[in-house]
Amino acid sequence: MSEPLKIAPADGRLGILTPGMGAVASTAYAGVIAVRQGLAAPIGSLTQMAHIRLGRRDEGRNPMIKDLVPLASLDDVVFGGWDPISPNALEAARTAGVLDERDIAPISAELEGVVAMPAVFDQRWVKRLEGVRVKTGDNKFDLAQQLIADIERFRTENSCDRMVMVWCGSTEAYQEPSAVHESIGTFEEGMRNDDENIAPSQLYAYAALMSGVPFANGAPNLSADLPCMAQLAEREGVPYTGKDFKTGQTLMKTILAPGFKARMLGMRGWYSTNILGNRDGEVLDDPENFKTKEVSKLGVLDTILQPEVYPELYGHIDHVVRINYYPPRGDNKEGWDAIDIFGWMGYPMQIKVDFLCRDSILAAPIVLDLALFLDLAQRAGQSGNQEWLSFYWKSPHAGANPPEHDIFIQQTKLKNTLREWMGEEPVTHSEAG
Ligand SMILES: NC(=O)c1ccc[n+]([C@@H]2O[C@H](COP(=O)([O-])OP(=O)(O)OC[C@H]3O[C@@H](n4cnc5c(N)ncnc54)[C@H](O)[C@@H]3O)[C@@H](O)[C@H]2O)c1
Repeated sequence: MSEPLKIAPADGRLGILTPGMGAVASTAYAGVIAVRQGLAAPIGSLTQMAHIRLGRRDEGRNPMIKDLVPLASLDDVVFGGWDPISPNALEAARTAGVLDERDIAPISAELEGVVAMPAVFDQRWVKRLEGVRVKTGDNKFDLAQQLIADIERFRTENSCDRMVMVWCGSTEAYQEPSAVHESIGTFEEGMRNDDENIAPSQLYAYAALMSGVPFANGAPNLSADLPCMAQLAEREGVPYTGKDFKTGQTLMKTILAPGFKARMLGMRGWYSTNILGNRDGEVLDDPENFKTKEVSKLGVLDTILQPEVYPELYGHIDHVVRINYYPPRGDNKEGWDAIDIFGWMGYPMQIKVDFLCRDSILAAPIVLDLALFLDLAQRAGQSGNQEWLSFYWKSPHAGANPPEHDIFIQQTKLKNTLREWMGEEPVTHSEAG
């Protein structure tokens, strides 16, 4: 057995701050509050529900993850956030329309108490939204300092011992990294000069890392996956992870594709279309914002199927992703997949998946798990990119390595990381194990 890491206990209060208090964030808060009051079960959350096998199969050791690693208790969690539109989490939950009033009513006072701080928001990055509660400042550096001050105020007012930040804000317009993102120095200089390549989400990431607060990016836009942020995270000793919550259609894709590949079934095409009618759908209706999402969604198949290794099977795939804003569907999106596969002697087959999913219901437990696992990572002395959390992402940060998209490999990596941190052997599923 390896030596366990020294992990500080999860004593005291954990503040979870979300830039963006819309459908996902309000559903995450509401679920945690409801679970705390015994009104709901934390379905979909590994930190609350999953077990983890330890040692050989015949040892019969299978504790819950939360009993193996010291995670913050839900009773110690306090929520906060920023939003340019939602005034508080109650309004956000009612506007989002994800949860029924019968689930909101018993926890409405607590939700109302989560008041949004004015946001750093710039319509250049999210054309479809009109921000009404927006910070003003001399330049982007000044705005970042205001976020840092918000974090400290929240920490003091809520007696938080530790904090984490999970971006639940809208997807920003597509952008490639540029010179301003190359180092901490260029980024700080760029903020002072109001460099147009610095997006609001990057100011939140900077403020979090500068405050020693771990950061996760739930959207596909660039924010922590930049050289300047990697340097900052290492310098400040802070973990971060991202990006783009893996829910809905991409979740299904990364469940199904590894199965086809495991059986060496070929693929000719995968056509994915979505209709959704929430605010996220409205934002993604703008081509610049959709491009950010499209890049994130398209990436997964190639790395799972490895067309360069299996050109005969996966060398000619037409992979198309569409998102259409269709208000009647609200947050209850419909994602259709038409998958064209082929088998023995090249005979074609078709698979149709019609997933009538609820995006925010799938995303909310991810927000919680990421917050608790990032807090654990920090107490375990980890900093920089936490690749073991790839399990939760459509576009996992992988640094110089190719990202791993196969959800089953991601799950093994996540659980083996926890085992190793606790001085347990990784499970390899070899004959003896
Ligand atoms: N729901 C899912 O399954 C899922 C999956 C992957 C990624 N995401 C991403 O998560 C994010 C949140 O999704 P949602 O359904 O809650 O969307 P939403 O539109 O309901 O909420 C986003 C909120 O962010 C706010 N916002 C925009 N810019 C901001 C800024 N600069 N600072 C602070 N707040 C800001 C908006 O006012 C809005 O209230 C989106 O980027 C979405 O693409 C969602």
